[in-house]
Formats: sequence, structure tokens, C-alpha cells
Amino acid sequence: MLYLGIETSCDETACAIVEDGRRVVSSRLVSQINLHRQFGGVVPEVAARRHLEAINQLVDEVVGEAKIDPHKLSGIACTTGPGLIGTLLVGLSCAKALAWSWDVPLLSVDHILAHVCANYIDSDLEPPFIALVVSGGHTQIMHFSSYKEAEILGQTIDDASGEAYDKVARLLGLGYPGGPAIDKCALGGNPSAFKLPEGVVPGYDFSFSGLKTAVMRLVENQGRIQGANPDASLPLGDIAASFQDAVNRVLFRKTMEAASKLGLERIVLAGGVAANSDLRRRFESAPGVKIYRPALSLCTDNAAMVAAAAYYSGQPVDLSASAYSRRY
Ligand code: KG4
Ligand code: ZN
Repeated sequence: MLYLGIETSCDETACAIVEDGRRVVSSRLVSQINLHRQFGGVVPEVAARRHLEAINQLVDEVVGEAKIDPHKLSGIACTTGPGLIGTLLVGLSCAKALAWSWDVPLLSVDHILAHVCANYIDSDLEPPFIALVVSGGHTQIMHFSSYKEAEILGQTIDDASGEAYDKVARLLGLGYPGGPAIDKCALGGNPSAFKLPEGVVPGYDFSFSGLKTAVMRLVENQGRIQGANPDASLPLGDIAASFQDAVNRVLFRKTMEAASKLGLERIVLAGGVAANSDLRRRFESAPGVKIYRPALSLCTDNAAMVAAAAYYSGQPVDLSASAYSRRY
């Protein structure tokens, strides 16, 4: 079965055709990172307009490259939320128009589930498994008992992990997006240089706002020390590595606890923060578990994951379907 996926939930315009949820037939993506960098973050209205300019050509390209008759597609799948409402509506309007004109089913796909489904691409992954979903908007531990049934075991009570990376990077003057910048900067730093707190929250929930404040205080203190000694510079590598260590320590520990409690050996990493090199290394060296994580290009937003999710858990909808910014 061939599904065409469309993704416009934030700042990537993407379109892809995937066969049976596992094999990418064609895929295109236009990133808006350079456009939003000047603002230090995504500007929703600017993002929506850029999606509108890009989407039709991407559809033409993936259909052309796949050399298929679009009337024979099993469906058009679109991310309908969570995400930025204005940007989601661009993708959904495009998906509706295509489904109507090609006379094929329209499917709605949840963005978080799609991130998890990126792990089915080119892999042998099957449920049951524990998924750690870490992105700019979400941080959740989920239990997938089947392809269609997923339970949230815990989630952040304030900032998402990716959001924490982005805010701390801004504080350190490392630019946007913050995650890759901190990842790179931390390579030259000592993760034990500064003792930063893990948010203390019960169960499988997370909190990252205290950590963010602790980094802010640390930077202020270091600034004072620096003020007294003009030759000193902020130890960016050590701060980045210590912050990254505090985030990844708690993500790793709680995910491993959930897998052990449920007796599951398969652990899936998903979302933009799953591209983090230290997080991947931690899980990959953990004994007694099998780790799945998408190729780096499939960690951050893309449309192949949407087309994969359509195959496993897409919801058929009609042309009155709408988008949502939050799930609850
Ligand atoms: O999944 P995603 O592309 O978009 C959302 O659904 O939010 O995730 C984007 C997030 C951003 O916060 C970005 O800073 C973070 O993923 N990210 C990383 C890395 N690459 C992207 N965080 C840590 N380390 C990375 N290498
Ligand atoms: Zn995402």
C-alpha cells in the first residue's frame, strides 16, 4: 500500500510517499530554519506563508519521482496536530484538495505518533515497546502494546526537552535551533563541571523549568567571575555538557525504569531530541535492551513518518476534518 504523507506542523514543509509503512519511495523537505533564525525562533504566520509557497511543488516532485498514478494511492495522510494551527491548516487544505481531486481516502495523523512511526522505516521494529518521544513541543514516555494502542506513562509538566535545549542555547548565545548547537558545543566540555539539578517529579513525569533557571543562575555567576577577570571567557562547553547531561540522565533513567517495570526489551527513541549524540550513546550502551532510533534525517520533522503512521494508525476522515494545536 502506498501512502502520500504531508507534514507542516511547524517549520519544515515535507511530502513523502512510503510503501507499507516501511520503505520510502520518494521524499522531499524544505526547511525554514534559515528564515526563522533572524527571529530566534519560529514565527507562526511567517511559517504558514512559507509552507503555502512550497507545498505544491513538493507534492509534484514526490509523485513524479515515484512514477505512480496518484489515483492509485491508498490515501493522502496529513499531520492534523499537535502543532501550530496556521501551519497545520496549510497542509490539511492541500491534503483535502488532493484527496478530493484524485478521489482517494484522506487520513489524519497525530504528530507524536508519527515521530514514533519513523522507527518503522527500514527496520524490523514491532510492538510491544516503550517509546521516549522528545521534541521541541513534547516529552513523553509511551507504552505501545500494539500498532494502534499507545498509553502515555508520563510526560513533562512544564517545558519540553527540546524547548529546554532551545532556551538554554539562546541564553548561551549559541543560536537557533538550540539542540544541535548544544550537542556540538558539549563535545568539547566536561559534563561533570557543574552540578545541575534533575527536576524532581514523581513517576514517569518530567520537569525542565528548574534546570533552565539553574543554568540561568550559573551563567550569571560565571558572568560575575568573568567580570572580575577580563581575560576569562564563559566556559560554554562545560555549561552545555553539564546541562545536556542533566537532561539526558533523567530521560534515560525514567525510560529504562518503565521498560524494566513492564518487562519490555525494545526501546524506541523519537523526535528531534532523539538526534542528540549523547542521548543516543547512553541508550545504545545500555545492557539488556534493544534500542531503535530513526536515521538522523527522520528524527526531526519529516513526511515519511507521516506516511508510515498512515499505514499503521491513520484515521480516515472526511473533507470537514480540522486541525488542532494541542491534544487536550
Ligand atoms: O521533532 P522536532 O523536529 O519538532 C517538534 O515536533 O518539536 O524537534 C525539534 C527539536 C528542537 O527543539 C531542536 O532543538 C531539537 O529538536 N533537536 C535537538 C537536536 N537536534 C534537534 N536537541 C538536542 N540535540 C540534537 N542533536
Ligand atoms: Zn515534531
